[in-house]
Amino acid sequence: MDLADCYKKVRARTEAICAPLQTEDYVVQPVVDVSPPKWHIGHTTWFFETFILKPYFMGYQEFDPNYNYVFNSYYETVGNRVIRTDRGNLSRPTVVDIKLYRKYVDDAMQHFIASGDMSDEVKELLVLGFNHEEQHQELLLTDIKYILGNNPLFPAYSHDYVKPKFEEPQDSAWVKINEGVYEVGFNGEGFSFDNELNRHKVYLNAFEISPALVTNAEYLEFIEAGGYHDFRHWHAAGWDWVNTNKVDAPMYWHLIDDEWHYYTFHGFEPLHLHEALCHISYYEAYAYASWKGMRLPTEFEWEVAATQFNWGSRWEWTESSYLPYPGFAKAPGAIGEYNGKFMVGQKVLRGASEATPPNHSRITYRNFFQPELRWQFTGIRLAK
Ligand code: AVJ
Ligand code: FE
Repeated sequence: MDLADCYKKVRARTEAICAPLQTEDYVVQPVVDVSPPKWHIGHTTWFFETFILKPYFMGYQEFDPNYNYVFNSYYETVGNRVIRTDRGNLSRPTVVDIKLYRKYVDDAMQHFIASGDMSDEVKELLVLGFNHEEQHQELLLTDIKYILGNNPLFPAYSHDYVKPKFEEPQDSAWVKINEGVYEVGFNGEGFSFDNELNRHKVYLNAFEISPALVTNAEYLEFIEAGGYHDFRHWHAAGWDWVNTNKVDAPMYWHLIDDEWHYYTFHGFEPLHLHEALCHISYYEAYAYASWKGMRLPTEFEWEVAATQFNWGSRWEWTESSYLPYPGFAKAPGAIGEYNGKFMVGQKVLRGASEATPPNHSRITYRNFFQPELRWQFTGIRLAK
């Protein structure tokens, strides 16, 4: 597909995700980690405007100079911005204004792409812009689920929503990997994020990893065995988190008439027991593994073994901290702030989820979040 088609397709997909929303749904920020949908659609537009049109498209007129303040997420290089906790206060610009902004930037981008005047350097930024918007498509869906799933009326997102089909592996034997030196990290043609580089060697001890994700039924056994009330399975920080927040089940689980239900994009449903567990924190993933007498894989174990199982329905918590690879280099300028400055205090997740755009992730892809977060589509794969 050429760049013009890619641009159209990625922008249209964001708009399709928003199509079922009512105007009010676009505005709220129920917790700091959840951004209002209107902010996502403005921010992804701002990304193309700030990193491509303003510096490289001759004669481009900025849509509105105030938007840099409103839609800059975290780029110190690009100036001051509305603090993250205040994104939900943005009743202005209106959703209509932001849609006009999208249209204005789309017209300019399409002209720029069609002009044939894009250098290879700008084309690289364009592809980063596609991948950036895809990351926000996942965040957008995830945030929409949180917004609606924490509304006291628990409205459905859309009854037309169909979860992408995923082949859960039949219960086959655990994958066995021999001890040895392996290579990890991105290599090959095409796009990768900077945090997947450099490809390098790692030593792994022999290990085994499950070809299947932990199911809701399996996790229920942990709950019923009192797992949330037994400090022995938890890190100190996890135990504090459980007690402070009175956590006793995954996010979106509710007991209704003594039966477990969970909020889905279709509204409440009885818990599907054989489905892969979703919406748990790293702390819970660790505690469950500990209760089973097992552990989580490291990100390198995961990467080496993942050619041998189906993955992609859940982001999988790993035991690895999010750290730079040997030789990791930040790009000069604002783009250098994209990933590298977050390499402290977060855990790596591998795989992809039902909310990940098709073909966005890959076997070397590194997602990352703080260990207490669970609004992402996170699950557990065990290792031993
Ligand atoms: C890779 C999902 C952790 O949420 O900030 C969006 C993705 N980076 N814009 C995030 C991202 C820049 C990132 N995660
Ligand atoms: Fe972003």
